[in-house]
Amino acid sequence: MNDREMQEKKHARFEGRLLFVGFGSIGQGTLPLILRHIDMPRDRITILTADERGRKEAEDYGITFVVNPIRRENVEHVLGPLLSRGDFLLNLSVDVSSTVLIEYCLRNGVFYLDTCIEPWHGMYTDGSLPLASRSNYGLREEALALGRRYPGAATVVITHGANPGLISHWVKQGLVNIARDLMGDIDIPRGREEWARLAMSLGVKTIHCAERDTQLADPRKRRNEFANTWSVDGFVSEGRQPAELGWGTHEKHFPGDGERHDFGCGAAIYLQRPGMSVKVRSWTPDEGPYHGFLITHGEAISISDFLTVRENGKAVYRPTCHYAYHPCDDAVLSNHEMGGKNWVAQPDYRIFMDEIFEGVDELGALLMGHPKGAYWYGSRLSIEQARRLAPHNNATSLQVVVGVLGAMVWALENPSRGMVEPDEIDYRRVLDIADPYLGDVVGKYSDWTPIKDRGWLFAEDVDPSDPWQFKNFRVT
Ligand SMILES: NC(=O)c1ccc[n+]([C@@H]2O[C@H](COP(=O)([O-])OP(=O)(O)OC[C@H]3O[C@@H](n4cnc5c(N)ncnc54)[C@H](O)[C@@H]3O)[C@@H](O)[C@H]2O)c1
Repeated sequence: MNDREMQEKKHARFEGRLLFVGFGSIGQGTLPLILRHIDMPRDRITILTADERGRKEAEDYGITFVVNPIRRENVEHVLGPLLSRGDFLLNLSVDVSSTVLIEYCLRNGVFYLDTCIEPWHGMYTDGSLPLASRSNYGLREEALALGRRYPGAATVVITHGANPGLISHWVKQGLVNIARDLMGDIDIPRGREEWARLAMSLGVKTIHCAERDTQLADPRKRRNEFANTWSVDGFVSEGRQPAELGWGTHEKHFPGDGERHDFGCGAAIYLQRPGMSVKVRSWTPDEGPYHGFLITHGEAISISDFLTVRENGKAVYRPTCHYAYHPCDDAVLSNHEMGGKNWVAQPDYRIFMDEIFEGVDELGALLMGHPKGAYWYGSRLSIEQARRLAPHNNATSLQVVVGVLGAMVWALENPSRGMVEPDEIDYRRVLDIADPYLGDVVGKYSDWTPIKDRGWLFAEDVDPSDPWQFKNFRVT
């Protein structure tokens, strides 16, 4: 089937009701693709949101649009008339507790999908709570505990957009590609244990979710404005959470301000600093080496946990895994401005969409430590490609939206799986649905490592007569 045919194909038929909670940049991008690929009557879809954004888009498609913010005290009252057994709640909101919505769905036989485990508004920056419970590790443990209470319930997919989401599938495809290049044809692993053993046998030590967004907009970011290519609320919130990373068994140097958790799976640590203030080095095929922010994300924890090999109850292998996010340049400037104000967000914000005039979102899994060095596998999607492929999207949102679409279809095909994370679902089924929308799906080897080109400025062999090191400037 060619891309054109894939883009018109109905992947699933759904007879229940579909409720969108939240209709911001991701919700607005998702609706047209659901209408294109899921066979269902439009009058079975309702959008429930907290503001007027997207009303016109919804009305253009003939979809019911209701502004009625969900709060702690009105969850049952608001959801009751809109959802019952066999319906689907697509949670694309910020500031609404995911676990509260999930519990409602698990109890009532309602399908569910979100792209982030969100707490109620204000929890991320509530100084009365310990940092550990404001971490994604804490939120994930709480969600997983809930899922364990409802085995075999209607399928609830947590954290499935692009990252978290597709990134877990790119890690698997990356592992398979490296293994094939090293060993010839291999059997595709079945189940968690076999995937973890494959990663261990390849010697993968570190996995970055490596993203470089080069989209530019006109007008560009203004003073006192936070600009980004997806939710500003979402990015500011997660960026002010403690930095977190899945912590590999090979690591020898524990960060000075690092902390372990005394509960849960033990796969990740956190730093006592907001992720937006921590820079890490990473690499993507087009950008080459870059500085990204160590923003906490679900995939850093779930991938490290999924790929852990245990023997006699002790973790003998686990890769380090973290996000290395270089958002669009104006978001970097926004972050810089906000950091200078002690992380108090600017009064104005803007999500770049129609005003973008060029750029690419390169987003993929960078697998390092194996005999072939570093291998990046993921999507390189330009704004022009995104606009040709789907309405109401930029390159960043489209990568997320097709992660949502792929996992929704998988959930409808696997209706009684209870709670699952991206790592637990059929990676090829989701990627086959997503790939036609991901621009160039690229796998590329590199000999770059985070330490290889570090420290040349202070190397012993620099020329003291050339204080600016122009002569010696080199990137090895
Ligand atoms: N996994 C990924 O790859 C990925 C990528 C981007 C965004 N996300 C997540 O997707 C979600 C949506 O992102 P976005 O860019 O569309 O955000 P956005 O800020 O553009 O929109 C948020 C939406 O939530 C709604 N909302 C806020 N409070 C609400 C309430 N009390 N009740 C009902 N609705 C409420 C708003 O009205 C708005 O429609 C966020 O959780 C974000 O972190 C995930």
